[in-house]
Amino acid sequence: MNAKPYDVIVFGATSFVGQLLCRYLSSQFNSRSLKWAAAARSIEKLERMRRSLDIKDVEIPLIIADARDENSLAAMCAQTRVVASTVGPYALYGEPLVKVCAERGTDYCDLTGEVQWIRRMLDRYEATANKTGARIVHCCGFDSLPSDLGVHFLQQRAFERLGRYCSHVKMRVKAIRGGVSGGTVASIVNVAAEAAENPALRTTLQNPYLLCPRDHQPKARQESFNRPQYDSEFDAWLAPFIMAGINTRIVHRSNALLNYAYGEDFRYDEAMLAGKGQRGRVTAYGIAGGLGGFIALIGMAPTRRLLQRFVLPAPGQGPSPRSQTEGFYDLRFLGIFDDGRTIAAKVTGDADPGYASTSKMLGQAAASLANGKVNKTGGFWTPATLFGDTLIDALEQHAGLSFTLVDAGRRA
Ligand SMILES: NC(=O)c1ccc[n+]([C@@H]2O[C@H](COP(=O)([O-])OP(=O)(O)OC[C@H]3O[C@@H](n4cnc5c(N)ncnc54)[C@H](OP(=O)(O)O)[C@@H]3O)[C@@H](O)[C@H]2O)c1
Repeated sequence: MNAKPYDVIVFGATSFVGQLLCRYLSSQFNSRSLKWAAAARSIEKLERMRRSLDIKDVEIPLIIADARDENSLAAMCAQTRVVASTVGPYALYGEPLVKVCAERGTDYCDLTGEVQWIRRMLDRYEATANKTGARIVHCCGFDSLPSDLGVHFLQQRAFERLGRYCSHVKMRVKAIRGGVSGGTVASIVNVAAEAAENPALRTTLQNPYLLCPRDHQPKARQESFNRPQYDSEFDAWLAPFIMAGINTRIVHRSNALLNYAYGEDFRYDEAMLAGKGQRGRVTAYGIAGGLGGFIALIGMAPTRRLLQRFVLPAPGQGPSPRSQTEGFYDLRFLGIFDDGRTIAAKVTGDADPGYASTSKMLGQAAASLANGKVNKTGGFWTPATLFGDTLIDALEQHAGLSFTLVDAGRRA
């Protein structure tokens, strides 16, 4: 069955997060447990990256491939069962690889959070992947793995206890600390540039069901916390959460792929907990103002250029090793049943969400695809629908995440 030399190829092994991923794979696996290779466009950079690894046994093989050269991507895919890509912004560089993987039946996972690009990939390659057997799964980093698997975890517990799913799940960021890399900035900047060129994109991005099948889009109104508001269930003020526009789309796609098991009226929203009372209110307005200001500045070409030049990290740069280990996150999920009863869970991570933790999440997602435990057919999946409990176990055992039920059910 496994005629290809590699289980996994990391494409983008010289990127900021790709290097972390290579370091993680070399610390977790040896050549018997996972055959993996590192790919990028520059042999010098690849060799430098390889020298920095603490390698257990054999040297990691290196492969040259260019994101814009389909022949080199096809040659890369011919050698592996799974490609994990960190070459971004994906909307600029990612399409040829998704096309080649879909056409050749090669499994693929990535870190994109660019929902407009995911929509394009679905429209162009979903039918092909369904035919060839390629399992394509986007958003295997902090966006959107903890949200998607957190909802999956909560809904499984809900079903075990009450025989039905919650009709509304609220995710609230209780605590978070982390940095940002140049690659992430470049992806945000690219979405802003696309929206400036194509104003219709702004409306598209507002659609909570953007990633659900085009011929079957639910109608339920979803809450998006663009402005601060008070949440009585959490007894706290809420501020907007920057990842909500990505994570909510993935969670709704998961529900769609489950034939709307959570109901067509299923509601899911995300926000940050800013605190109680007057202090919480002021904090919420501060976060909302800061985020709104950033989005406004990034939306205009001259200020966007100034920010990129003088303030934001450049591609290849990212948080220091110390800030990565000092990072963490604590996400709370409150599930509400139709009769008003509730159930609650939390998902925590022990490192910087976007980098140290994200590289481990992508590594475990790629290894899960390669180790034969995922029994789904070809298509465009979400993390929860493709991996479910298998990946939760792996993340708890090997990636510093925890999924815990904190309240097994309360009466209304
Ligand atoms: N989902 C999440 O939570 C999450 C977290 C972190 C990052 N991300 C995303 O992951 C991506 C990577 O982030 P990063 O900070 O690691 O970015 P980065 O350091 O700027 O790296 C970008 C990479 O793309 C490569 N590249 C560009 N054009 C290429 C081409 N034609 N062929 C081959 N490779 C090419 C670059 O290669 P060279 O090294 O040769 O220049 C570089 O390694 C971004 O899209 C970011 O938004 C997502």
